[in-house]
Amino acid sequence: MSAPRITRRGATRRQFLLGGAVAGVGAATAIGLDTALRAAGSPDPTPTEEVHGADTVPFHGVHQAGIATAPQAHATLIGLDLRADVDRSALARLMRILTDDAVRLTAGEPALADSEPELALAPARLTVTFGFGPAFVARAGGSAPAWLAPLPAFAVDRLRPEFSDGDLLLQVCADDPLTVAHTVRMLLKDARSFAAVRWTQSGFRRARGSEASGTTMRNLFGQIDGTANPRPGTVDFDRVVWSTQGWLSGGTGFVLRRIEMNLDTWDVLDRGGREQAAGRFLASGAPLTGVREHDEPDFAATTAVGFPVIPEFSHLRRARSDDATQRMLRRAYNYDERPTGGGVSSSGLLFASFQADVDAQFTPVQRRLDELDLLNRWTTPIGSAVFAIPPGCLAGGFIGETLLG
Ligand code: HEM
Repeated sequence: MSAPRITRRGATRRQFLLGGAVAGVGAATAIGLDTALRAAGSPDPTPTEEVHGADTVPFHGVHQAGIATAPQAHATLIGLDLRADVDRSALARLMRILTDDAVRLTAGEPALADSEPELALAPARLTVTFGFGPAFVARAGGSAPAWLAPLPAFAVDRLRPEFSDGDLLLQVCADDPLTVAHTVRMLLKDARSFAAVRWTQSGFRRARGSEASGTTMRNLFGQIDGTANPRPGTVDFDRVVWSTQGWLSGGTGFVLRRIEMNLDTWDVLDRGGREQAAGRFLASGAPLTGVREHDEPDFAATTAVGFPVIPEFSHLRRARSDDATQRMLRRAYNYDERPTGGGVSSSGLLFASFQADVDAQFTPVQRRLDELDLLNRWTTPIGSAVFAIPPGCLAGGFIGETLLG
């Protein structure tokens, strides 16, 4: 069979897409994917335009990508339930296949038997991060860290099973939502005979290029969110995030909380009230005692009438621990769904945090926020999941090999 001639004309390309998709990757490689992409009719970028689709984040390494990686604009997180007959050797097969998919797709190459190979050609800083729930580790015959279990119940929780728990986590992030969707589809097709989707949750930040990279994100309350995070590349970051325990060494603990943010009632609060609730200024993200975003808060400062400038009930005061070990890396995404029940919004935060030990670092903070945090008036946790994120792997290896190898 001779390969179709690829030109810049749409008709020939359409023939390729219709015929080649059925023939699968064979046809795609026969004609050359680079040629296919060039034939896509896209003009060369103007000299002033920066195009980011080809940017990649290395997959291989001591740690998995998608944790210290500067957050991409889009994320989809998926919780899967393992099928009943999946045993330890099947888990190893599954993780080898999914690792292979992730290696290729993050490099901007189609997965094996990729049904839409063109969609793989713009990785846009794609990362795929895998996490294991308690049942995964049990079936692998490994010893789970004590914290790998559902979080204790909190009074603020209104958890729904359709957003909670799971055996295997896929966190797929990229600066392009089409890349995320394609990657998710490829991974789920390959996982299908091993596991079923329990939940998927998608979120976003500002588009790449809308702001200088490195700008702290804003959530849908308009707050600058992520200021007090440890900085990747520092000893502090390594201490907060990376585990040194057994098969998890080089990995970390992951907490996902789906937190509804009631924008309809937040609307009623004036700007001053909003800033008191957070303990920070909305415009700059500075603490109420400071001027710039990264100024240190002064919790001892008082107003003329003797009240703390940063209120005791503010999220900043309650989330900041006096114990320096109770810290985490927050890597959140916003979500915005179809409103229900007559409201005009159904929005919130996919609060995602990475920490070496969930019990020692996350839970005490969440407990304090549960007891007192003015933000609780407008926020409700409706989903919760905890996963162990295994370390990264080198070329030829696979994610999970320290547990399954
Ligand atoms: C929808 C819910 C939430 C919103 C809107 C929110 C918003 C914020 C904002 C605006 C800040 C200040 C800027 C910053 O340092 O990032 C902050 C800080 C922080 N938040 Fe949250 N947050 C939420 C939930 C949580 C949860 C569930 C936790 C953990 C249990 C948490 C832990 C923290 C921590 C540790 C800080 C840094 C405190 C410090 O300055 O040391 N937040 N959050």
